[in-house]
Parts: sequence; C-alpha cells; structure tokens
Amino acid sequence: MSVIAFYQGEFVDPAGARVPIEERGHQFGDGVYEVVRVYGGRPFLLDEHLERLERSLRTIGIRNPYTAEQWTGLIGEAIRRSGEAEAQVYWQVTRGAAERVHTFPTAEPAVSLVVRPVAAKPASADAELLGLPDDRWANVFVKSVNLLPNVLAKETARRAGAAEAMLVRNGRITEGASSNVWLVCGDTLWTAPADRYILGGITRLFTLRLARELGIPVREEAVTLDQLDRVDEVFITSTTLEIQPVRTVFTDRALLPALRQLPEEAPTTLLPEVRERVTLWSATRPPELTARLQAAYQTAVERFRNHEPVLGRA
Ligand code: PDD
Repeated sequence: MSVIAFYQGEFVDPAGARVPIEERGHQFGDGVYEVVRVYGGRPFLLDEHLERLERSLRTIGIRNPYTAEQWTGLIGEAIRRSGEAEAQVYWQVTRGAAERVHTFPTAEPAVSLVVRPVAAKPASADAELLGLPDDRWANVFVKSVNLLPNVLAKETARRAGAAEAMLVRNGRITEGASSNVWLVCGDTLWTAPADRYILGGITRLFTLRLARELGIPVREEAVTLDQLDRVDEVFITSTTLEIQPVRTVFTDRALLPALRQLPEEAPTTLLPEVRERVTLWSATRPPELTARLQAAYQTAVERFRNHEPVLGRA
C-alpha cells in the first residue's frame, strides 16, 4: 500500500513534501480540486472530472496549467507509481505562491496530487443523515478547496452519530457535505438541479445516465422539507461512496427554523449539538430502486475493469 505525492512538477516524498508558507491555497483557500476513483488501475470517468476541473478553474480565473492529455498522463503515471489497482487520486490547482495580498499575483498556478489506496468498500449499513442549514456561499458549483462549511457540517453530523449531513437551503434539499442527495418518490428519482447551489457530482452525472438506461424517470428538481412525507427512498452518491442507501434523516428541533430560512443573527456555534432529535424522514420499505441503481453501478465498474464500454451493450 503506497501513497504517491506530486508537487510542482515532480514526484515527492508524501511525508516530507513542503508547500511554501505563502501558498494561496493554504492562506486563502484560493484553488480548486478533484477526486477520482481508480478501479483496476485506471481512473474512472476521468474525462468528466477534467471537464469539471476546467470549468472550476475558468470560473475563478486560474489558468489550467495542463491540457487534458497532460492531466491524463500525469494521473496515469501517478497511479502506475503507486502500483495500486484500487485507489483514489486527489489533486488540486491553486493560484500559486506569492506575498499575501488579496488581489491576484503574477505567480504560476501550483499543482499538487496524492494517490491513496482505497480498501474494498465494506457492505455498509444504511446511513443516517443529519439535516443542517446550507449556509455556504452561493457558488458551490465551483469545486473549491474552501471547504470550511462542509467540514463543519460533516463534523456536526459525525458528532450526532450520522454518516453525512443533508444540507437544506430555504426549505429545499441541496446536497450532502461531500455527496449529492437523491430522493425516490414512487417510481421517480429526484435530485437537486446542477445549478449554483450544488456541486454537480460526477457520480451524480453517471447515476443520471444509469437511470436513463434503466428507464427510471428523473426530475432534476429540489425536494422541499414539506415533500419529505412523499419520499420512499433516499440515497447519496459520491466518487468514493458510489451509491449509499439512507435509512433515516433527522435533525435537532432547534435547527428546524434555520432549515426553512437562515436567521439574521449570528449563531453562537457552527457545531450545533442535537439535543432534541426530530425525524425528518424514515424508510418504510426496502430501497428497491436504490438497489437497482447500485447493481447497475457495480456492473458498470466491472465493465470498466474489463475494458468494456461502461454503459449500454458493447
Ligand atoms: N466530494 N457535493 C459535494 C459538496 C462534494 O464535496 C462532492 C464530492 C460531491 C459528489 O461529487 P462526485 O460525485 O464528483 O464525487 C457532491 C469529494 C468526494 C471530496 O470532497 O472528497
């Protein structure tokens, strides 16, 4: 099991690598990132990740330092060096290192990358989600390394015994702290639209393709809290989680108003405790449609491992 690291043009010792003290990713969170899953020694859906990276960079005015071919070569080389068949690759591009002033420096963008082995996914129990107010900025479609709200939400969820947060903006379910949220109503799959209020997940994109293939109707519309009583199944998706079923969504009674509308006054903590648990949704039937999508996802991954086209008949 080896971890491989790359920084500014060279492969480096992950334990000894040094980033300049005035690196803008470090000081301002001025950068963007990607995470790709490696199956059978090859990165899954890499082109889609590279397109999203390009979009994130373009949106915040950082020059993409590599072409898609160069990224593909670098990521392939890093995976080869790791010798891992099952891994994840994290990489980020920041605005570089320069004296700390807010305006853009003339520095070149800085690239860092880490390949880490991933253990085979255990057959995980259905997850619980903690409903939390989505108080992030209004441009979360940029996959920015600024993850403070996500980190706080995830930690708040963990302390409450939940696997993930379910973020709610003005009564509308947006996404998780590091995943997209899906809701099944009858035979129809709902997920928030890929607008500025969610990070358009690549797994979300792929799940939409799977749903189309399986003939499952999809509505890219946010489900509101008031509609939760009509929801039959909930699951979350991400590159690392793939498709994860959910059994319960709960929150703290004191948070209910903030889920509908953020109060004007500043909270005393951004790590609220769950003192009075309120169930927002709970599974009442086996997650049938979720299971179909999970099976289709696994089939696609198997095809990918076998160098076959992942979707449709070969
Ligand atoms: N997170 N929404 C948010 C806020 C995320 O951070 C992520 C992924 C997703 C799902 O995106 P994708 O399907 O492309 O992984 C949705 C990654 C895995 C992370 O930060 O580690």
